[in-house]
Amino acid sequence: MKLNSLGLDTKKTKDLADDLNQLLANFQIYYQNLRGIHWNIKGKRFFDLHVKFEELYTDANMKVDLIAERILTLGETPLHTFEDYTAKGSVPVGKNISQDEKAVTLIVDSLTQLLKIERQILDKSDDANDEGTNSMMSDFITEQEKTVWMMKAWLS
Ligand SMILES: [Fe+2]
Repeated sequence: MKLNSLGLDTKKTKDLADDLNQLLANFQIYYQNLRGIHWNIKGKRFFDLHVKFEELYTDANMKVDLIAERILTLGETPLHTFEDYTAKGSVPVGKNISQDEKAVTLIVDSLTQLLKIERQILDKSDDANDEGTNSMMSDFITEQEKTVWMMKAWLS
């Protein structure tokens, strides 16, 4: 087994960085979904939701940077073009969504997809003994699960 300068298996690290790039691409789509609903939301709950969506996209923006810098830390290059993001995207793309329930449902559906990718990464980072990636995924999963709960409570 060949170890890199972090003391991690070189091959497993490359594989993890590829998966983190998949997560990065999908986070960017999620981020853009949030910008879209922040801008386009209409109705009697506009003021609440407009602010809530800004809070969520600010958080997503911070996480995008953490993922990209983790990829760099692992010795790989973070994807940064819309072309790559679209090619790797599995998060649903929300377009022209202005109705509040549709907007919140888009958030839940996006997070469900992100959680799936994060759990895949968590399995691999555990196996590779990559604690940095592992703890990042744990934090993301915990926070996003809580957001899913809140969004579903709002929807019900
Ligand atoms: Fe704004």
